[in-house]
Amino acid sequence: MKKFVFILLLLVSISLLGEVQHVLTIDFSQQGPRIPETLHGIFFEDINHAVDGGLYVELVRNRSFEQETRRYEGWRVERGDFVRSSIEETYPLNENNTRYLEMRFSETDRATLTNLGYGGIAVFQGQEYTFSTYLSGGFSGTITVMIVDDDEILASGRILLQQPVGDWKKYTLDLVPTKTSTNSELSIVILGKGILRIDMVSLMPKDNWNGMRKDLVKMIEELKPGFMRFPGGCLVQGNTLENAYRWKESIGPIEQRKTKWNFWGYYQTLGIGFYEYLLLCEKLGAEPVPIFNPGISFQIESPEYASEEELKEWIQDVLDFLEFANGATDTYWGGVRASLGHPEPFNVKYIGVGNENWGPRYWENFERFRRAIKEKYPNVKIIFSGPPSYEGTDFRQAWRWARENNVEIFDEHIYASPEWMLANTDRYDKYDRNGPKVMLGEYAAHTDRRRNNWQAALAEAAFLTGVERNSDVVIMASYAPLFNRVGWSQWVPDLIWFDNYRVFGTPSYYVQKIFAENKGDVVVYSELTNEEYRMFGYRYKYLYQVVTYDEKSQELIIKIVNPWSEDRSVRVDVRGITLDGTGKEITLKGDPKDENNFDELRIVPEEKIITGLKNSFEYTFKAHSVTVLKLKVEE
Ligand code: AHR
Repeated sequence: MKKFVFILLLLVSISLLGEVQHVLTIDFSQQGPRIPETLHGIFFEDINHAVDGGLYVELVRNRSFEQETRRYEGWRVERGDFVRSSIEETYPLNENNTRYLEMRFSETDRATLTNLGYGGIAVFQGQEYTFSTYLSGGFSGTITVMIVDDDEILASGRILLQQPVGDWKKYTLDLVPTKTSTNSELSIVILGKGILRIDMVSLMPKDNWNGMRKDLVKMIEELKPGFMRFPGGCLVQGNTLENAYRWKESIGPIEQRKTKWNFWGYYQTLGIGFYEYLLLCEKLGAEPVPIFNPGISFQIESPEYASEEELKEWIQDVLDFLEFANGATDTYWGGVRASLGHPEPFNVKYIGVGNENWGPRYWENFERFRRAIKEKYPNVKIIFSGPPSYEGTDFRQAWRWARENNVEIFDEHIYASPEWMLANTDRYDKYDRNGPKVMLGEYAAHTDRRRNNWQAALAEAAFLTGVERNSDVVIMASYAPLFNRVGWSQWVPDLIWFDNYRVFGTPSYYVQKIFAENKGDVVVYSELTNEEYRMFGYRYKYLYQVVTYDEKSQELIIKIVNPWSEDRSVRVDVRGITLDGTGKEITLKGDPKDENNFDELRIVPEEKIITGLKNSFEYTFKAHSVTVLKLKVEE
């Protein structure tokens, strides 16, 4: 009966249409799913120098000379006639940090080591920087440390080595630049005689958050992520199992963390590791979603499979991690967490087993992990990995296995054209409500030239309306990848771009931001007349919408995406509640080709107060726009 009355009202509305092109009917009495707090999240991977040369505040590149190849990367070494230098391993700093630079001065002479950072080092006038290094050997002399820009010295300090240095010892200096420079170098002038071994050369701003760049932390904080998936991605898989991510190598004193070849083609210091990731999640109020290798390296290219014995170790790694994250302080790993400064448990609730894995061998391994984890941690939810594809045979088979084997959460990855995204906003309408939930762990619209433009972001916004509407099925969604260090990236498009000292959000960033900020608590039924739009064989919609309600602020939230080149006029009819006529409009709009850059943000949200929008009103949704209407409801 209720449905009949609703359809009748809809028909009456259409007949009264006049010049409006659509009627949007919103029925508050028909509520859809509650929207989980986790819905909009972030996916963090050290790709595009997101960590080394990015979020991690270390300014020195290749600080510990551990690199197997490109051993002097980031360094320039100038030396006098009586100096020889080489990278050695005979007297290691520790077992994880085996290489160091050895300089042999046969007579009193001079050598200069210059670190170029990641294409120049940015320092700010008046800020404090800590220089530190480990030294050993039989050298006496002086070491002058300088931050220089061209020939100008911006800061300097001196280490006096009157006695032969002896065993490894840490030396530190405070440096305060007299001037700001975005392109400086760290110069270390060594004058003396003997053998000097140098390791862990570091320069870090004191103003940081747990070793992270504050401006980048702020950018992700402003996204209000409900979860954080980390540390990858393909990074988790590794090119071989040798360089697959192992969380135990990423915790503890930084000089004991193992520098490793990163899947994405550079060396990573693990200066930000699992402990820091957990701290970050805590700060962001985001559920940690760590992803673990299932005993299989990068599956797309001749994968390596862990032997029976090795697989046990990979499984044990996850169990140990859960003890580290959630265990009491009198357990071994809970004690390690406490010793790092966090006695309270992190209360990790999700574990991902695998990234872009598929097929019987993966499923078998997944089952082994699941059994072992559930036995000790029955409440932890385990995320099953889908294949790299989001349709086709592998994808369908994975879903069949997941359904038949009662998987809790299925990780889908969708990198598709904007056209595909616009034509598939109803994807999750068709999903089984009783099957596994979906984590859309990676997604992005890829335009022809993979530009980070408004065309892509508009398609993502339209797709997100379908995600939000179906948030009983899709419980987490994160754009990928998160960061791009301009000029040092392996993958575009990305959410946030930065360089030595600047950062900006792409149009996709602002779509994520306004969706996360205006999520609401529950989906409210809505229907749009005259919605279908066919073009080049695709079935699109003129407008894409989702309506939700925020219980705390008592606001009806209407999100409308108009990806096309014409404005659309809509009459909005709200039933089942009374709007008090006040509210706010947040819009993003521009030309599809528009991109943001360091100097100009073409696509940023504009906000304005609106009044007079009662239960029935007309509204024009501008061409190429995303609009959020937040309308106050009467008590
Ligand atoms: O997001 C970049 C990469 O895309 C991820 O590492 C991988 O999971 C996917 O193929």
